[in-house]
Amino acid sequence: MEVPLRVLGINAVFHDLAAALVVDGVTVAAAEEERFSRRKHGKQPVPFSTWEVPEKSAAWCLEHAGLVPADLDAVAYSYDPNLATEPADDITAGEWEGLRTLYARRAPLFLRAALPGLDPDLVRFVPHHVAHAASAYLAAPFRSSSVLVMDGRGERASHLAGQTTDGELEVLAAQRLPHSLGLMYEELTDHLGFRRSSDEYKVMAMASYGEPRFLPELRELVRATYDGGFVTQRIDWNVFVRRLGKEAEWGSEHADLAASVQVRLEEVVLDLLYWLHERTGDGELTMAGGVALNCVANSRLAEQGPFERIWIQPASGDSGTALGSAMYVAHEIGDAVEPMQTAALGRGWSDEELGAWLRTAHVAHERPDDIAEAVAEVLAGNGVVAWFQGRSEYGPRALGHRSLLAHPGYTENLDRMNEIKGREQFRPVAPMVLAEKAAEIFSGPLPSPYMLFTHRVRKGWEERVPAVVHVDGTARIQTVDGFEEPLVARMLQAFEQRTGLPIVVNTSLNTAGRPMVDDPRDALECFGSAPVDVLALGPYLIRRSTFNRRDRP
Ligand SMILES: [Fe+2]
Repeated sequence: MEVPLRVLGINAVFHDLAAALVVDGVTVAAAEEERFSRRKHGKQPVPFSTWEVPEKSAAWCLEHAGLVPADLDAVAYSYDPNLATEPADDITAGEWEGLRTLYARRAPLFLRAALPGLDPDLVRFVPHHVAHAASAYLAAPFRSSSVLVMDGRGERASHLAGQTTDGELEVLAAQRLPHSLGLMYEELTDHLGFRRSSDEYKVMAMASYGEPRFLPELRELVRATYDGGFVTQRIDWNVFVRRLGKEAEWGSEHADLAASVQVRLEEVVLDLLYWLHERTGDGELTMAGGVALNCVANSRLAEQGPFERIWIQPASGDSGTALGSAMYVAHEIGDAVEPMQTAALGRGWSDEELGAWLRTAHVAHERPDDIAEAVAEVLAGNGVVAWFQGRSEYGPRALGHRSLLAHPGYTENLDRMNEIKGREQFRPVAPMVLAEKAAEIFSGPLPSPYMLFTHRVRKGWEERVPAVVHVDGTARIQTVDGFEEPLVARMLQAFEQRTGLPIVVNTSLNTAGRPMVDDPRDALECFGSAPVDVLALGPYLIRRSTFNRRDRP
């Protein structure tokens, strides 16, 4: 048998369309479609859009590796329509769920249309939560682990608990729909006037302003069943607080509800963890699924849960299933799958290419001896910097490749960053910190290279870095290792030399409602439309002129 070597992973079924390419067991590229199409989340997660596949990101993954569709050995699609609701005679029944199944079955043909030359017979369906799980256990640096997926929904389930050794997965429990911790949180997000399946992190931020006074009621409605699963009863949210319209002002009662649901979520997941640990006795836990992006819950699991170490897939939302399904099929076929080394798996440009973009745009720029030193100087002078370096990140977090940076020492920089981005003032911004200094300043799981945990800010530091300390005294840090991220680390060191602070404010390079900047054009457009002082595009520095010469006499 010929050993297949090149596996393309596809996430297309709900939203967060994405593609990933695994060659000889190594992840060579992974990217989300929204970064190409500039449409946040790629598409609406409705049955009618199931035919849409990540054509631009998939084409780029192949191009990046110098491949054409005919070179592929397998295509992994992160949903198995054979496990899903069978279409009835009337496909409009069950909110058109049957249409989703029909479209998913035809995904091989949609993929062939998007990637001419692709053999549709190469497409393999990977169960959605197996794909999420594989994005954790095969990507993590552990030989064996317990694995927990907590999601909105897959084919018919919302969760998976299992154990893996040498890449083989044994499923121990899977909670069937309609019970779903992810959907419960989504419904609350919707009730509080935000976009469901998108803005859950805003609810998490709001929760820190509230008191969990509805906890007794929620403990009745949402609970673990001690067989590995859980119950989420239908909740009439209006019993607690009135529904908020879009953009409406929220009050303490809304924050109290958010806090109550957040705490109840943490309690139930802790119960699930103890159940899992009792069966496996493992020291390591790997996690994925949308709920695994809840960094407040993750910190509590790390602190109070039974596992010694937790590794979470940074692209834990559905985009990560492109990578998970590709890794799963690569392993199934017989490849040794290498753990994930970095989230910087997207597009990048050479210095020459970036220079050409600037010349085309007729943008005045300079090339300092060391961009890290030059940016540190601007930051130390309290300038805001758009930082575009290397390959873009896979997953929802900016990790020092497409970032907006600022001085953490000024309280007003929180509002300033939120204003630049045009987003809600209650949203926190996060610090990036030199890995070797993190333990002095923050307590919590370390290292934390993917911003998936919150940390307590140690005494004496809150006043020194007020812009990055959340209202509850925590910060969602990214630790920067000089070996893994030499340029970012050098910039942080240069900033520390000037200010005594080994920390800068880091938020994603985009404005509200738009996908993160990905290519140089996006960077120039973002810089052109937002009051950012400096754009560091690779080795080039573009300064905003504070006056227009033509207006002067
Ligand atoms: Fe999912």
